[in-house]
Amino acid sequence: MLEYDAMRQGKTLVVGHRGACGYAPENTMPSFRKGIECGADILELDIHVSLDGELVVMHDSEVDRTTDGTGPIEGKTLKEIKALDAGVKFGPQFAGTKVPTLKELLDWAWNKIPLAIEIKGDPFPTPGVEEKLIKLLREFRILSETMVISFHHESMKKIKEIEPSLATGLLIMGELVDPVQVLKASKSDSLRPGWQYWSKDKVDLIHKKGFIASTWNADTEAVMDRIVPMRIASIGSNFPDRLRKYIDRQGKGI
Ligand code: G3P
Ligand code: CA
Repeated sequence: MLEYDAMRQGKTLVVGHRGACGYAPENTMPSFRKGIECGADILELDIHVSLDGELVVMHDSEVDRTTDGTGPIEGKTLKEIKALDAGVKFGPQFAGTKVPTLKELLDWAWNKIPLAIEIKGDPFPTPGVEEKLIKLLREFRILSETMVISFHHESMKKIKEIEPSLATGLLIMGELVDPVQVLKASKSDSLRPGWQYWSKDKVDLIHKKGFIASTWNADTEAVMDRIVPMRIASIGSNFPDRLRKYIDRQGKGI
């Protein structure tokens, strides 16, 4: 698994957050293409399930912020989702950009770059999303290089129980009294709190116990100055080129 190699070597992978969403509309193909251009090692993205059962790539539960439509994404059919413009709110040059399905993204990404796929859902993921996701990843034969991450820890446990070869990661916004116990209970490989919650000691503890420390988002030099020296195995950024340059300058990348 990619992040294990980075962890063992004391290196840091650059994760393009929602592609490279500082430069292009988040979770769309222009953003993912930009993520590769920026030198990301991994692309991060968010998924929901459409009303008619398709895995679609979007962060929010509602389409309002990022598209010209309104309402919950999970209440729309794929045809309705495909009618949305997911680019114009970011900038007129992106007008006409569509919400990708996960399958469309995998068709493009499978031989280019590994993915960190985040399962969304408010308050919980759609029942069956884990099985659908694993089926698709098996079809593309990309289980070994894909990570599945989520704030929904039950979902991570389920993923690992169905497909032990998939790397899983727990997202949190806060701190845990016993992170190792939580990782074990959810059968997860990585702990991924917001960057504010890491210290060098905590990173070292997680790595020493054989788990992976990861985080997001390092967009400024000040944040990079604080977290890159901790040797976190992977760090997300909305501007992956900035983080790429910073890490490469210090010889800490892969
Ligand atoms: O990569 C983790 C990060 O994406 C989690 O937060 O809100 O951007 O999905 P969010
Ligand atoms: Ca995410």
